[in-house]
Amino acid sequence: MGVAAQRWRDRQAARGIPEEILRSAPADPWTHSAADFAPPAEPADTPSRAAARALAERAAAWSCAGASVLDVGCGGGDAAFAAALPDPSPVARVVGVDRQADMLAVFTAAARERGIPHGTVQGSWPDIAGEAGRHDVVVCHHVLHNVVELPPFLAPLHAAARGGAGGVVIEMLPEHPMAWLDPLWARFHDLHRPPSATADDAVAVLREELGIEPEVRHWERDRRLPHDAEWVARRLCLPASRITEVDAALGDVPPRRTDVVTLVWSP
Ligand SMILES: C[S@@+](CC[C@H](N)C(=O)[O-])C[C@H]1O[C@@H](n2cnc3c(N)ncnc32)[C@H](O)[C@@H]1O
Repeated sequence: MGVAAQRWRDRQAARGIPEEILRSAPADPWTHSAADFAPPAEPADTPSRAAARALAERAAAWSCAGASVLDVGCGGGDAAFAAALPDPSPVARVVGVDRQADMLAVFTAAARERGIPHGTVQGSWPDIAGEAGRHDVVVCHHVLHNVVELPPFLAPLHAAARGGAGGVVIEMLPEHPMAWLDPLWARFHDLHRPPSATADDAVAVLREELGIEPEVRHWERDRRLPHDAEWVARRLCLPASRITEVDAALGDVPPRRTDVVTLVWSP
């Protein structure tokens, strides 16, 4: 394993929650609520959407057929549907992959509402990469920071993009999405975390392991996930009885960052 992949692994592994804290957690601190990931009726106009749409348009023109889009870690499918809409769409079909069945239910309902031909594969990437197949455009938004071993995740993502005119679009935050809570882990659990893996670290892994030099776009977005005291207490493995304390402590930490990074490449 190269130095970049090792750095990513070390930094991600350091995000783990010690067993004794997890054991006393009143609720699972990791699982995302599917309701938070319902795609908006009107997709946000972002550099990631523009990149995926441009790749889909190129692929559709190249093949004289509609493009297929694979959304890895799709949640409710925001990334795929943003590329597919509005009509006239270059996208003929979207396939969502997620390990959470409730996310795929949101994805399927959203595809039906929008009248977009679709499929789903439930399971963990890269285990189900073969089942997901190859597509013109592969999108993967806000998933990399869930991954410890990045090369075996990225290589099949790259391979899932058919040669031709399509490509891959990754969207991620510059650092771990929960890094803003590090001061609160220190305060409530005396747990001191090292620096987060960064988007630059992911780019270094792409370069080192796959020889890929993606186009990198930095931009700003509105806050999306809830970050009230109740939500934060759950992430911190704290019981409801400490929500008031968490609320007060939140006043002392800088708010979540709103900058986002988009990585784009073609096979
Ligand atoms: C933060 S959410 C992002 C959802 C969506 N891509 C978006 O941007 O709105 C991460 C999603 O990735 C899924 N996920 C994380 N790791 C995964 C893996 N290795 N394989 C499949 N799904 C994964 C989670 O279940 C969750 O639905």
